[in-house]
Amino acid sequence: MENIICPEQQAYLETLRKEEDPLIIEMEEYAKEHRVPILNWKAVEFMEQLILAYRPRRVLEIGTAIAYSSIHIARSLRKKGKLVTIELSSDNVKIAKENVRISGFGDKIKLIHGNALEVMPGMKKKFDLIFLDADKEDYKALFEFSMELLKKGGVIFVDNLLWHGYAASKQVPKKFQNSTGHIREFNKEFLSHPDLTASILPIGDGIGFGVKKR
Ligand SMILES: C[S@@+](CC[C@H](N)C(=O)[O-])C[C@H]1O[C@@H](n2cnc3c(N)ncnc32)[C@H](O)[C@@H]1O
Repeated sequence: MENIICPEQQAYLETLRKEEDPLIIEMEEYAKEHRVPILNWKAVEFMEQLILAYRPRRVLEIGTAIAYSSIHIARSLRKKGKLVTIELSSDNVKIAKENVRISGFGDKIKLIHGNALEVMPGMKKKFDLIFLDADKEDYKALFEFSMELLKKGGVIFVDNLLWHGYAASKQVPKKFQNSTGHIREFNKEFLSHPDLTASILPIGDGIGFGVKKR
């Protein structure tokens, strides 16, 4: 299982796609070739529209990888908007820095090289939008830190909540059983959090979308 929507619909949507930025296309090709998991293009498109409509001033991303989603976020932010993005892998940080440089959005993106589990507890300023996209076994802890750092009325956006279809599947390959267990547990917690109005949207690999009520 790869896509959560059927291949025919996926192919149809591809034919309507409008992305023209050569850096974005190149990053998608790089990610495919080097098996770097990045946000699905429909999901990143939705995130950009959300940013354009909601106009967050401060955005936090947990899991930069090669800065594919970071660059999408930065290009949609308003003039004074800033993105703080955290990445654990030094190999990815190197590539992300170069991509940010090429994109020309270096003034909007602050890339922190570190473990978000250690970086987030030390953060003081709150965020209007938090995008969680790191290792699935850390989602629970990272979500708790995110709720502390999210402003009232702020939005949390979480990737992979349908987990290539495995979250809903009765037959999960051995390799994915552990991560699927984490996602299933996380989904229950996410949807029942008392401070959130939350949904899981069947876009990309399943997007968790929540608004902090208090
Ligand atoms: C799915 S990728 C992020 C993709 C990126 N958001 C995009 O869509 O272009 C997940 C990234 O999170 C990083 N990561 C995993 N756990 C982390 C942690 N605890 N702190 C910071 N980064 C982490 C991984 O090294 C990996 O590069």
